[in-house]
Parts: sequence; C-alpha cells; structure tokens
Amino acid sequence: MIWGIMVKASNTKKVRIQEQKPDLRIVKEVKTKPYSDIDLNNWKDYSHIKTDTWWEFASRDKSNGHSNEYHGNYIPQIAQQLYERFTKKGDIVLDMFLGSGTSAIEALHMGRRCIGVELKPEQVDIVSNKFSPKELVTDINLICSDSANEEVKEKIQARLDVMRRDKAQFLVLHPPYDDIIKFSDKKEDLSNCANTEEFYNLFKKVAQNGYDMLEKGRFAALIIGDKYANGEIVPLGADCANKMREIGFKMKAVIVKNMEGNERAKGKTANLWRYRALNGGFYIFKHEYIYVFQKV
Ligand SMILES: C[S@@+](CC[C@H](N)C(=O)[O-])C[C@H]1O[C@@H](n2cnc3c(N)ncnc32)[C@H](O)[C@@H]1O
Repeated sequence: MIWGIMVKASNTKKVRIQEQKPDLRIVKEVKTKPYSDIDLNNWKDYSHIKTDTWWEFASRDKSNGHSNEYHGNYIPQIAQQLYERFTKKGDIVLDMFLGSGTSAIEALHMGRRCIGVELKPEQVDIVSNKFSPKELVTDINLICSDSANEEVKEKIQARLDVMRRDKAQFLVLHPPYDDIIKFSDKKEDLSNCANTEEFYNLFKKVAQNGYDMLEKGRFAALIIGDKYANGEIVPLGADCANKMREIGFKMKAVIVKNMEGNERAKGKTANLWRYRALNGGFYIFKHEYIYVFQKV
C-alpha cells in the first residue's frame, strides 16, 4: 500500500518537499523574511550562517575567480555571509566602492546581481574583464564615477531600469580607511582627502547616495577598520557608522572580524610592529568591523 501525507499549500505560499521516508512525502511550508531566502522553518539547516558578532576566518576564499591581487579588497566570505542573510536570489547588490569587484563576483556566484561604482577607470576595465559580455548586461553593471557626487544616482537608476528593479536590495560600503592605502591621486578619491574631516564629509555623501538608492526595509553593510595617527586611535569605524545613523539608517549589528587572510605577508615587519607597540603604548590592530544597518 502506498501511504503518504500531502499537506496542501495555499496558492500564495511557496512549498518545500521533505523526504522523510521513501514513500512518505511531507510538503512543508517555507517561512522566509521579505529580504532573505533562509527558510526559518528549517533554521537548523543553516549552521554555516553566522549569528554572533565575532567573525573569524582562517584564510581568504580564493575560489570562483576571487584573488587578493588588489591591495585593500575584502574577503569573499563577508559577502557570502551577508548575501545569504540579507538578500534573495535575483536581488541587486549596490557596491559604491567596487575596487576589484569582490561584491560582483560573489553576487554572480550566489545567483544575485550587482551594480558597482568605482572611481578608477582602469579598475573598472579590470573588473569588467572578469565577466562575459552577457553577464555585463543581465547580472553585473559597472559604473565609473564618483560615488559622492549626486549625479551617480541617475547612472545607478539607469542600470536599475535595465535590470527591472526600482531600487537596490542590499548596499555595500567598503570605503578607503581614510589615507591608510592611497588608491589614486584623484581629488574625489576618499583616500586622498586633505584631512579626516573631509574624508567623513565625502563618506557621508556616498552613504546618502546609497541610502537613496536602497529599497525600504533592506540592509546595508559598512566594512571598515580604524587607524592610528599622531599617537592615538582615530575611530573611523564608529565615526562612519554614526554618519550613517545621522542619515537615517538603523544600526543592527557591530561585527568584529579578524584580519587574518586580509593582509599580505608582513614577515619581517611583524617584530618591528611589536617593538613599536611596546614602545608607544598601543596595540596592533588584528580586527576590523562590519556594521550592519537597515533602511526603515
Ligand atoms: C577599500 S577599496 C574597496 C575594495 C573592494 N571592496 C574589493 O573587495 O575589491 C575602496 C575603493 O574605493 C574607490 N574609491 C575611492 N573614492 C571613491 C569615490 N569617490 N567614488 C568611487 N570609488 C571610490 C577606490 O578606488 C578603491 O578601489
């Protein structure tokens, strides 16, 4: 005798078929948030998803076309965690500081799409070579522009129209950490500001543009570290996070991430830094931050 239970799903609800026994099929309702595909009815299946504020990664993921050829890129595992938690398949991630395209590569790999803005034309060329001509129309759109300029919003909107969405569904902000790494000589470059106040002002303009292009209810991530200058800490992370709160973002999480795998081999200089720390009364940075926000 064939015996089984079919739980009927309503027209509007998605269903998931669970095989319990070979001939017993239970159709179970899927419970998701509007911004994620994570099935909360099967939340125990997501043990790979981080839910605490300490993120430690042993090394950089170099699969799927990722590399660390660009000084200052973030590790793909950050995008993997954030996209699964805060985006659905087909959603558009907007990255206002695209750099080497980590956000775009991972978006494609995870069935998401990406619009990336980057100031340096040569960098945009390098990233566009990582995708096929078709992908560059349907899934990945690259814009060479100053993200702090309000005009960037029209360019982003034009790409959103092509991709048939009104707004982006997730925002990534991975700015220069002030002047720690100088990315170009351009005056619009956030790594090239006359002082940290100017950096904060430009950052706030970029964050405002990102806010305006983000769908209500959706999430944003700020990836950043602090710096030392003139014998004291400059809390770039907290200060930039506060700029985002001033704009209207609701702060949801402050995640601390280890920097292992970020840096190129420090080798001989490691001991020198230890000496400097002991001598100067400070501690060597081993962490950076991922601030998570929601547009409410
Ligand atoms: C920290 S890197 C981002 C790295 C990127 N997340 C990755 O994984 O490759 C910051 C990037 O912002 C770019 N940038 C600086 N000022 C900018 C501006 N005003 N508009 C757009 N991009 C800018 C720099 O050229 C640099 O590539």
